[in-house]
Amino acid sequence: RRVTSRKGSMADVPSDLLDQINRLEELFTVPTDKLKAITDHFVSELTKGLTEEGGSIPMNPTWCMGFPDGYETGTFLALDMGGTNLRVCEITLTEEKGEFDIIQSKYKMPEELKTGTADELWGYVADCLQQFIEYHHGDEELDQLPLGFTFSYPATQDYIDHGVLQRWTKGFDIDGVEGQDVVPPFEAALAERGVPIKLTALINDTTGTLIASAYTDTEMKIGCIFGTGCNAAYMENCGSIPKLAHMKLDPDHPMAINCEWGAFDNEHQVLPRTPYDIIIDKESPRPGQQAFEKMLAGLYLGEIFRLVLLDLHQNPDCKIFEGQDVGLLDKPYSLDASFLSAIEEDPFENLSETHDLFQNKLGIKATKPELELSHRLAVLIGTRAARLSACGVAAICKKKGWDKAHVGADGSVFNKYPHFKVRGAQALKEILGWPAGKGKGRGDPVEILPAEDGSGVGAALIAALTLKRVQEGNV
Ligand code: GLC
Repeated sequence: RRVTSRKGSMADVPSDLLDQINRLEELFTVPTDKLKAITDHFVSELTKGLTEEGGSIPMNPTWCMGFPDGYETGTFLALDMGGTNLRVCEITLTEEKGEFDIIQSKYKMPEELKTGTADELWGYVADCLQQFIEYHHGDEELDQLPLGFTFSYPATQDYIDHGVLQRWTKGFDIDGVEGQDVVPPFEAALAERGVPIKLTALINDTTGTLIASAYTDTEMKIGCIFGTGCNAAYMENCGSIPKLAHMKLDPDHPMAINCEWGAFDNEHQVLPRTPYDIIIDKESPRPGQQAFEKMLAGLYLGEIFRLVLLDLHQNPDCKIFEGQDVGLLDKPYSLDASFLSAIEEDPFENLSETHDLFQNKLGIKATKPELELSHRLAVLIGTRAARLSACGVAAICKKKGWDKAHVGADGSVFNKYPHFKVRGAQALKEILGWPAGKGKGRGDPVEILPAEDGSGVGAALIAALTLKRVQEGNV
């Protein structure tokens, strides 16, 4: 079989490398039938997660019970603790329908913090909030400001202003937080510093994305994050959540469900895992968790790529980068998704950018065939990520019987990774089987669109909706 890429043939590639490229094509390509099989299993796992017995997808009730009507008002703080950055926003929802003003500051989330102690984490988060308030409000006498805290990890919530961390995801590994309510230590760190903030709602970024998107587009039915991690939220009726039956909630009342679909197929029944996915899992701080996420989220894309190249370097049958120092390539997580993005963007005919990247970032002088192989590999990894992501979206639509929906999406992979949107739309079309559309997914029955800022504006809106519910006595 002669391997060709979309943009050029690989005629110059020696046969041992071609064999490897063919092997990788086999490993990383997910054909339509497989996408459909994954989606069907996904539907049953979503359903199972809502039952008392549960499954591997947590399907967490969020106590966010309804969409905004666009007339929410007030000033709120939002704290976004996602995985890569920490962001503090002050959002004023104005009298004008669907309008808001926002000021915000971004803080780097130091790498050491992710594996440090709980005290260091909450201390740092509280310091950032304190700095933000001092910078924007100086010595003003402040009443307690209501805060929407976007804590983007799986949490069990019995109330909207509490959340017990089920487990860390996205490479975080801080002792003494899992299994605990994260709100008391967070509030204690604020109180210690005398920061005038009252946590009103603890939310997930996907729930925020759903609510913020629905604020401006009433067709929005799902909120998705394709970023460092990958996950989605949608509205269920309380009557369709068997695990809440004992609470005797109004069966027709909506409740946002944070799926935590990164945990899909933790028992390895359908996902086409490669040996590289298995290494990623084994070497991660939480082996056996987040099987789906580890194959497609931004945190892992560069690492999958690195593991494949290292394997080929060590493979006696092909030996890429012969005689080169691969010390840097040998370092776990030394490449991030932006490395792959840059390679995918580099025109195949030339690959001079890719050549420079290998040289500057890894100290490797790659040959033309090695560059071509790397480009092909980036395409395979990026395409697999988009196609698998589409299975989750299709599964929610199938479960809910939606043959039309807008899906609000956010995250670095969705916003920045080349061709992610088009590849995802193509896969959705293959799974859900609609005729060829206008191209690039635009106007498709299920359409994935860029979302409003869920972790900022979404958090503020949910805080506003919560205060309104409390005032109306519907707690
Ligand atoms: C991880 C988290 C989840 C979050 C997602 C996107 O999957 O567990 O809570 O929504 O990343 O940030």
